[in-house]
Amino acid sequence: NVLILDFGSQYTQLIARRVRELNIYCEIHPYNKPPDTLSEFKAVILSGSPFSVRGEDAPHPDLSAIRGSKPLLGVCYGAQYLAHFGGGKVAPSNNREYGRANLSFIKRDQKFFEHIDAGSQVWMSHSDTIKELPTGAELLASTNDVENAAYKISGEDTYGIQFHPEVYHSTDGKQLLHNFLIEIAKITPDWTPDSFVDSTVADLKKKIGNDKVVLGLSGGVDSTVAAILLHKAIGENLHCIFVNNGLLRKNEFSSVLDQYKGMGLNVKGVDASARFLDELAGESDPEGKRKIIGKVFIDVFDDESHQIEDAKWLAQGTIYPDVIESVSVNGGPSATIKSHHNVGGLPDFMKLKVVEPLKMLFKDEVRRVGASMGIDPELLGRHPFPGPGLAIRILGDITSEKVSILQEVDAIFINGLKDSGLYNKVWQAGAILLPVQSVGVMGDERTYEKCVALRAVESTDGMTADWVNLPYEFLQKTSNEIINKVKGVNRVVYDISSKPPATIEWE
Ligand code: XMP
Repeated sequence: NVLILDFGSQYTQLIARRVRELNIYCEIHPYNKPPDTLSEFKAVILSGSPFSVRGEDAPHPDLSAIRGSKPLLGVCYGAQYLAHFGGGKVAPSNNREYGRANLSFIKRDQKFFEHIDAGSQVWMSHSDTIKELPTGAELLASTNDVENAAYKISGEDTYGIQFHPEVYHSTDGKQLLHNFLIEIAKITPDWTPDSFVDSTVADLKKKIGNDKVVLGLSGGVDSTVAAILLHKAIGENLHCIFVNNGLLRKNEFSSVLDQYKGMGLNVKGVDASARFLDELAGESDPEGKRKIIGKVFIDVFDDESHQIEDAKWLAQGTIYPDVIESVSVNGGPSATIKSHHNVGGLPDFMKLKVVEPLKMLFKDEVRRVGASMGIDPELLGRHPFPGPGLAIRILGDITSEKVSILQEVDAIFINGLKDSGLYNKVWQAGAILLPVQSVGVMGDERTYEKCVALRAVESTDGMTADWVNLPYEFLQKTSNEIINKVKGVNRVVYDISSKPPATIEWE
């Protein structure tokens, strides 16, 4: 419905999320690679950018197919771009304008600012400023420091705004996007989880027909929601494989497998724990462990997928942030795409045609789609868990004894979070087994045993994270329970490092 042309701003994905919160579908495309289906989009938004419109390397897209024929909104760089190349003037501002500001003047006779009052807080982040409006533009709003904060080009639905409506600190940002997309561009807000499910199921039916599809389930949200969508579309022709790599949480394999079967999925559980642990024996390098786990997984999955005769498709739970092409800023403004694997050396299952039903969804949308299909909220609310599992939470080499110790510790911690109502306040949590022994005393005996660290973080996407201020009483109770119940552990510590400079996982 809505096209967002990306000029490399850190906020571009936020624009997309805000638009979708209005129940309007949108896609992000690099400014220099607009989609072939331009005519299908009902409105266009130009994002911000780290570039200056005055720079030689500045993005300079041809908007002739859009300008005047579709409602167009330029945000920050987008507004400056329309001004600079439209007869206006953009120049460095005297002071870099960054942070909160308030609209001090709003021209009232416009739908653009309907239900938004003077004084409304907006978020600014720019070093250039629009000194003169483009030809044919009228001023719509100012702030104390920025005179030309919003404008409209007369005779067309073309608007420019210097502030960022997509950023949470712009308190009426969502209303402004509503005004532009729903009141001005007349887009019907009908993109909801239910409508997504209906149209995706219909598309999948058409695309896949009577073919068989293979899908690897991980117990995580994305693969589960992808499986349920496909199951709705093709039923028993969806063949799911759930591999136990021996590095899952305590009882995870059997409980998740039962849950999947309860949802009616045609799923085969493959217990390959011994094979993974054998291959991992003696390996203590973090990247070495990841490589081994990745390779064994591919071997196991390949063997299993061969047992499904005539499979034609491989389904994956890829989500939108994994596929958005980014506009490269350092190496010049060119779109970078992940280099593709060398097809010759691929395992057979990777030669199947790929189907990715969640490819256009953000993580929170995957959860909402899952909820609308009736997936258990507990499953949808699960913390993320890394593919290599406990292997990267056992520092140093891995043995089955260490795995069992860590599973016990982790279960006490996670169940404790759930029982105390803290689980949903934490983005990710887990325990780490340290390659450290320390002296303790139990009864009259001196002990020399293992140490575990507990980690709980708040985050939105895992890129940055803060440690969670868990109540002392909770930590005290958890530590006591771990030391009393888990043989081989005599010391518990809590990780109070943020990311950056630390990372969430220890390896
Ligand atoms: P870090 O440790 O980089 O973790 O701060 C960020 C997020 O990524 C997860 N993570 C992984 N997930 N394979 C995965 O599938 C991996 O090798 C891996 N390493 C880290 C981590 O759990 C956190 O959510």
